[in-house]
Amino acid sequence: MKLFEKLLRENKSWAASQVAKDPDYFKHLADVQTPEVLWIGCSDSRVPANQITNTEPGEIFVHRNIANLVINNDVNLLSVLDFAVSHLKVKHVIVCGHYGCGGIKAAITNQDYKAILNMWLRSIKDVYRIHRAELDSIQNFEKKENRLVELNVQEQVFNLAKTSIIQRAWKNEQRPHLHGWVYSLKDGLLHPVYEMKPGTHIDPLYEYDGL
Ligand code: CO
Repeated sequence: MKLFEKLLRENKSWAASQVAKDPDYFKHLADVQTPEVLWIGCSDSRVPANQITNTEPGEIFVHRNIANLVINNDVNLLSVLDFAVSHLKVKHVIVCGHYGCGGIKAAITNQDYKAILNMWLRSIKDVYRIHRAELDSIQNFEKKENRLVELNVQEQVFNLAKTSIIQRAWKNEQRPHLHGWVYSLKDGLLHPVYEMKPGTHIDPLYEYDGL
């Protein structure tokens, strides 16, 4: 059996087992989705949002990209953010990185990954530059890498707070709470490393008037 055939077969048995547990399972899900959480995570196949948080379909709205970046002109990310915050009215946005992230590892090297990946990884190099004093002082390479994973998550939370989407929701509806977490592949545990409560002030240069 080919892998894609196995996926389709497993899908059938999963759907059947859900209905066995609750005959109305799909009827409820199909009606409406009201997730309270937006998850911005890494595309890494080892960090699936629902499984590691033991949540069900319908509970978490998800966006994933390489190294969980919040880029201010990424139409994909911004569309997801706007829909989740302005329409679904999520109460929490979680940026979740993970130790051992390939994107972070790649960004520390000087390797040329060619145009597209170089462009994407550039944002991570910028995070390193902002925190160069701290990162350069860490001798152990794995520790340095792990710290960059944490600082990257922190910077992406800042990037969320710089958007008028978040600032407008903070001002008018006192939500969402922003969280920066890091997942450990070694023990499956999530570590909160940073948070911003609604209304937190950031560098005034980024704060919009008349929201
Ligand atoms: Co990753």
